Amino acid sequence: MSPDPPTSVAAIPKAELHVHLEGTATPALIRRLAARNGIALPDRLFADDDTFAWVDFLDFLRAYDDAATAIRTAQDYRDVTYEYLASCAAEGTIYVELIASLDHGAKVGLDDAEHLAGIAQGIDDAQAEHGIVGRIISSAVRNFGVADCEDVARRTVALDHPYVVGFNMAGDEANYPAADYERTFEIVAEAGLGCSVHAGEHAGPESIRAALALPGVRRISHGVRAVEDPSLVAELAQRGIVLEVCPTSNVVLGLYPGYEDHPLPSLMGAGIPVTLGSDDPPYFGTTIGREYELAHEVIGLDLEDLQDITETALNAAFAGPDLMVNLHDHRPGM
Ligand code: ADE
Ligand code: ZN
Repeated sequence: MSPDPPTSVAAIPKAELHVHLEGTATPALIRRLAARNGIALPDRLFADDDTFAWVDFLDFLRAYDDAATAIRTAQDYRDVTYEYLASCAAEGTIYVELIASLDHGAKVGLDDAEHLAGIAQGIDDAQAEHGIVGRIISSAVRNFGVADCEDVARRTVALDHPYVVGFNMAGDEANYPAADYERTFEIVAEAGLGCSVHAGEHAGPESIRAALALPGVRRISHGVRAVEDPSLVAELAQRGIVLEVCPTSNVVLGLYPGYEDHPLPSLMGAGIPVTLGSDDPPYFGTTIGREYELAHEVIGLDLEDLQDITETALNAAFAGPDLMVNLHDHRPGM
């Protein structure tokens, strides 16, 4: 049976493949967790009650790391996960892959297994209460160094957690080239994890080419700067490499002056499969629902395009086919 045509953005089931778990916690939640854990946060972390303070990409990464120090226990990770997934469900989201960093847990003394258990509890509670399905992408941070990323890869594989379906590498792509992380990706790809890499955000097409050369890479996080190289655009389309596109993140971090300048329509027009993500929603003043709305109202995609974007996300998800077949079958209105 073919899906009914959608009548509004709100009615379209949404799926998100690109959001950083620590980056979903709002200033209010970070303050609450800091108070619960009896820790002081640096004054410079907040611009006001509802806004984190940072001035550019590297300063954003610093603010992100500072805020994440408030998330300290398995219960904290459960709460961050649950609150984010519940908010996504309220916007009609049916599936989310949460990019989670073992390093951020370890930095506050949290054991890896407890860390994942907290996130898994949040996923289970959100599914039971709101029907949304979440899974975990383990993430290394390239600017923490090659040895650290290989260690995260090994720990991820050793944990063998049923909810960890993929591996990502985030952080500073301009100063930490992808080629140095070949062994990191060998470790996770050999274990069968789906791989994605941040590339083509703060560096150009060469960074995307280097990411694509890593073992197991099937999706690129952002990748929007591929548009600067027509031969790369053709290659991405021909190989069906999925881009996890986060328009508001790109505009707020200064890649493009406004949504009108965003390359999403060109990339789609060239036949590259794309999904939508909110990246670090409270830092950039967005939500996954808002990204779908902006893509329609400001970037000019029609409702069928948005429906296709959800379909692409469900097809490109790193979760196993059993779970995804179930989700395909239960899409409200699709
Ligand atoms: N970590 C969190 N958000 C990120 C982004 N947009 N790019 C790279 N690393 C990140
Ligand atoms: Zn990201």
